[in-house]
Amino acid sequence: MSKNEGDAKFAGSLNHAMIDGPEGHAAQEYANHFGEPGYSDITKVYIRQRYDGYTAENQESWRTLYDRQMAYLPDHASQVYLRGARAINLVRDYIPYLEGPKSVNTFLAPLTGWQSRAVPGYLPAKAFFACLARREFPTTVVIRPKESLDYLPEPDIFHDIFGHVPLHADPIFADFLQTYGKAALLTNDPYHTERLARLFWFTVEFGLIREGGEIKLYGSGLISSPGESKHALLSPEVDRRPFDLDRVCDTSFEIDHYQPILYVLESFEQLRDAMNQYAERLIAKAEKQAAGV
Ligand SMILES: [Fe+2]
Repeated sequence: MSKNEGDAKFAGSLNHAMIDGPEGHAAQEYANHFGEPGYSDITKVYIRQRYDGYTAENQESWRTLYDRQMAYLPDHASQVYLRGARAINLVRDYIPYLEGPKSVNTFLAPLTGWQSRAVPGYLPAKAFFACLARREFPTTVVIRPKESLDYLPEPDIFHDIFGHVPLHADPIFADFLQTYGKAALLTNDPYHTERLARLFWFTVEFGLIREGGEIKLYGSGLISSPGESKHALLSPEVDRRPFDLDRVCDTSFEIDHYQPILYVLESFEQLRDAMNQYAERLIAKAEKQAAGV
């Protein structure tokens, strides 16, 4: 979607002011140039979470979304996700803090070293990968407007924290995601960049996993979406395929409707090991190129 449509979605939402202003603009500007000469410090794309900017209505939106999903997820989400949500102290009572003693980062740090960092908006791909390579997750701090609780075509803090971050508490997933970031940062081949984007889409965003003989949710786009989480598990129109890295990377995706194809992991070790193998291939290729072979 275009930036203008995004702005229209948030029109009138007070929390948009949280990312406006000199700090947000400077961070976004830096992100847009990241990788160019003089733009190599990824920490300059981070901003503060101006927590006072959340309104009572924003807090109510968080509680509504939390209650709705947590009524469904205990029976339908991966145990790894549910364990992670408890481990980072994800609660219904308030929008998560990124800093301070109550923050998700305080709980996450001793488990895997991952941290969530506030960013002003979309990061270009290389900046996004550079964050992941450091075990830092670029996190949208605004929350969707009350009128758009069911569907928002862009990330917000509910998608980013509720949907993504609990898995970062799992050591195996944590390693996978960092390796993904390193590999994606390394490659400049559009063929591999596209394949890696597909891998992210069909795992981190829309992945399913088999646990105890049942298919469960773990992808953030499923975990954080009331409609899509049920569709993914129940719809007869969804083609649920066994995970295979090359097959996943060969599958294109569309972003504007419920996913017709999903991939099912047998374990997170399977994902980590497949990613390690892919990363090794990319590293070997980069070394060959560097050596002029
Ligand atoms: Fe996401």
